[in-house]
Order: sequence, then C-alpha cells, then structure tokens
Amino acid sequence: MPEPAPHPDIAALREDYARGGLAETDLASDPIEMFERWLAEAIDAGLHEPNAMVVSTVSADGLPSARMVLLKGVRPEGFVFFTNLESRKGRELTGESACALLFPWHPLERQVRVEGRAALLPRSEVDDYFASRPRGSRVGAWASPQSRVVEGRDELDRRYADALARFGDDGPVPTPDHWGGYLVAPESIEFWQGRPGRMHDRLVYRRTHTGGWRTERLAP
Ligand SMILES: Cc1cc2nc3c(=O)[nH]c(=O)nc-3n(C[C@H](O)[C@H](O)[C@H](O)COP(=O)(O)O)c2cc1C
Repeated sequence: MPEPAPHPDIAALREDYARGGLAETDLASDPIEMFERWLAEAIDAGLHEPNAMVVSTVSADGLPSARMVLLKGVRPEGFVFFTNLESRKGRELTGESACALLFPWHPLERQVRVEGRAALLPRSEVDDYFASRPRGSRVGAWASPQSRVVEGRDELDRRYADALARFGDDGPVPTPDHWGGYLVAPESIEFWQGRPGRMHDRLVYRRTHTGGWRTERLAP
C-alpha cells in the first residue's frame, strides 16, 4: 500500500518568482540608501509589518538563535532596534556582538540579509524612544522578565498588575535599566530578488578595509 499523501503536502508548495530583477545598474552607491529604497517599496506595497526583521545572535557556546524584532530606525551607521538587555538576545550580544538581520519581504519576492556587529545605543536615545511608546508597552517592559521561565500566565498577569499599581493610572513610567537598544553596524548587506527557474539575483555590498563598499554578485 502506498503511503497516503501527507496533508498539507508542503513538498508541493512552491512559487515561481517573476516580479522583477535586480541588476548592478539598479544599485545605489551606498547600501543604506539602497535599503531605504527597498524599505519604502515594502511600505508602499502595504506589506504587514514591513519593519519586522529576524535577528540572529550567537551564544558563548557558538549556538545560534533567531527571533523577530521591529526595526526602529535606519541611519548611515546602521540599523536600530530595542529590547530587554537581560533577554536571551541581550545576554548573547553582550558576549558576542556579531549578529545577523533578515528582512523577509515575501510578497515582493525579496529578502535583505545584513551581517554586522551590535553596539548599545546611548541612554539618552533609549529614553527618548521609550517615552514615545504606548503606556501599556512601557508598563510591560517593567513587568516582563523577558526570556526567563515563569510559573504560568498568572505570574505574568500579576507582574503586570503590580507594575500598573506601582506607576498609577497616569504617573510617569521611566525607562527600566534593563531595557535598551542596539545599533547594528553592517559589514555586509545582501539584496535578493527572486527570478524564474530559481535563477535569483543576489547582489551583496561588503565593507572594505578603507571603510567604503564593494559589490559582488552571488550565485543563487
Ligand atoms: C513581529 C514581531 C516583532 C517583535 N518585535 C520585538 C522587538 O522590537 N523587541 C523585542 O524585544 N521583542 C520583539 N518581539 C518578540 C521577540 O520575537 C522575542 O519573543 C523576544 O524578544 C524574546 O527573545 P529572546 O528570548 O530570544 O531574547 C517581536 C515579535 C514579533 C513576532
């Protein structure tokens, strides 16, 4: 008896990519400018959370881990995100600053891959951003010991209620010391555009030792 087909048949799920191509002549001279162009196109295309990216870090034992994080700024020096500094990612970045970012812009048949090093943002910048967050998120930053094991949902709800009681209904909610942000300074940025027959375009900028950028095409 043949094995019944698994349901859903994920092996049969595939898309052919035909939206466009990426030529060397399409590249901006600076990769951050190129990234901003593609980010604007992702926003204009109405992608859900176009600033969501996968951040990969490495433990002291060399074990990688990845999670989604929101990009909160892009500037000539690199990419900005905010998190709990005592979280798994925060602890791993303290030990090993090398990390990778991935922007999965599937509906545009695009991805951007960034490799670089993360450095802590100055506290003044962290405070400014923290103050701009909705109050509920600021309270949550106090309530949640991100990445720690908790007893159950009850413990989280209790912690949130305790934090709310501490700050009152409309009292100021300062930035916790354990909360902060990172600037990821890129060493390389790859722009990937899907093409028919899996013959995708991959153009990567690499930082040169003089601080400029060179570009290369990679085989798909
Ligand atoms: C779309 C999306 C955006 C997220 N943005 C953030 C973020 O900006 N900062 C953050 O700390 N966690 C964010 N998270 C939660 C993380 O994915 C993760 O669960 C959390 O940071 C703990 O990760 P860690 O234990 O590996 O440190 C986001 C999750 C999703 C799905």
